[in-house]
Amino acid sequence: MDASHMGQDLEKVLYTEQQIQDRLAELGEQIWKDYEGKDLLLVGVLKGAILVMADLMRTFPGSVPMDWMAISSYGSGTKSSGVVRILMDLREDITNKHVLIVEDIIDSGLTLNWIRSNLLSRGPASLEICTLLRKPDAAKVEIDCKYVGFDIPNEFVVGYGLDFDEKYRNLRDVGTLAPHVYS
Ligand code: XMP
Ligand code: MG
Repeated sequence: MDASHMGQDLEKVLYTEQQIQDRLAELGEQIWKDYEGKDLLLVGVLKGAILVMADLMRTFPGSVPMDWMAISSYGSGTKSSGVVRILMDLREDITNKHVLIVEDIIDSGLTLNWIRSNLLSRGPASLEICTLLRKPDAAKVEIDCKYVGFDIPNEFVVGYGLDFDEKYRNLRDVGTLAPHVYS
């Protein structure tokens, strides 16, 4: 992969590395307060959420455990269908735990809606969602998301864990792709 062109493939930077860190620090402070004295488990969804998880959890002044699940979403191309299969399940039993799902982006909301009801069926003490990005104009299902980093326009974005064809995940900023990349 030609890393030297990664930044140039962006049409527009939506949020810089610093803006993302600043916002995660605010969310982290809020989350830390909200879960004081509670048995919190962070649940990340692979692969997009790896960087949000890494940076969010490091804003906490104390230890918080994490777990991961991997899913595959049946759909065409970049559109998700909401029909989901678990590729790798959680290792932890979440019964009676306060679960916070950590996500990179909520687009249509279909995937997260499925994950949410799947985890709810396991009897957690509570279940909330934290996402770095959300596209309000793309919502096909209403998702009650307590912690949102940024609401963004309905455009395909990459960087900071988000990929186009497995590329650009390691880009430090979040931005939209230049048309020459995908056309
Ligand atoms: P839904 O539509 O179910 O989408 O909320 C869920 C998953 O689709 C991926 N996704 C994106 N990935 N840029 C990306 O790189 C985007 O703009 C984008 N929108 C959705 C992502 O994995 C998300 O969890
Ligand atoms: Mg994702």
